[in-house]
Amino acid sequence: MNKKSIFDSNRIAWNQALEYHQKARKNSLQIGFENPDFTTLNRDCDDVLVNKLNGISFDGKTISQMPCNNGRELLSLMRFGAKEAIGFDISDVAILEAKQLAEIAKLNAKFVRTNILEIDEEYNDYFDFIYISEGSLQWFPDLNAYFSVVNRLLKQNGKILIFEIHPVAYFIENSFRSENQNLNYATSYFDKGPYGYKDGLDYVGGVQYEAKDCYWYMHKISDILTAILHNGLEVLEFDEYNLEMANDLETKMYDKFPLSYILIGKKK
Ligand SMILES: C[S@@+](CC[C@H](N)C(=O)[O-])C[C@H]1O[C@@H](n2cnc3c(N)ncnc32)[C@H](O)[C@@H]1O
Repeated sequence: MNKKSIFDSNRIAWNQALEYHQKARKNSLQIGFENPDFTTLNRDCDDVLVNKLNGISFDGKTISQMPCNNGRELLSLMRFGAKEAIGFDISDVAILEAKQLAEIAKLNAKFVRTNILEIDEEYNDYFDFIYISEGSLQWFPDLNAYFSVVNRLLKQNGKILIFEIHPVAYFIENSFRSENQNLNYATSYFDKGPYGYKDGLDYVGGVQYEAKDCYWYMHKISDILTAILHNGLEVLEFDEYNLEMANDLETKMYDKFPLSYILIGKKK
């Protein structure tokens, strides 16, 4: 399958998934963002993130998230003092919701529907800070292509913060469940995929549905680091945690494994 068809399919699959997420959340985000102190960065796993964010100066800064889904994380990040935020995502439904939430929150945030790999050149050297959160990198077959866009969009000395699901957690979720602890059935950590989610992507409401085809990729930690380092970025901090990020109760039990990580990097 060519890359265009992969991204077209993923766009459709995410539009479908967003409708399930919206049903599960009802209007809790719309009500929440009416309150200027509202944040969604308050899950159990977010203490480590907030701790890192408190060490970064956001005053007068321009920030982005790519991909940003419905904007809830980027809008919450704006509470740290940034002057402007722009979020990018491939899903039409996600971007529509993000625009609505920005209006409710009365924040200087703009949302653009686009494939990250095709972000317009008007955003070259535009951002002081780019946030990349859980479930983002897996949608890009080629991490070099992804991080070359990150580099293109960042100003010199601009920072990235990645708070992502550890590839070991994808390995556990994908193939090493309590009912199936036979490593003969396990997917290799070294097998890039692509994989699918035939029961859907409703990690918010937990509903299983007949999902449109989508394609995601397993990137090893070494793939992620190599792509970052080969694209003009240096790594300032790298920490691994046993904190589960995707609301998967079974994976949460495997807390002797690394389940998430934070990487802070800077454009040279
Ligand atoms: C799990 S979310 C990650 C963002 C956030 N952590 C969240 O949970 O809402 C994955 C997002 O990636 C977006 N996405 C997938 N492929 C993309 C691409 N090629 N370009 C832009 N966005 C993409 C999807 O639309 C979806 O909103």
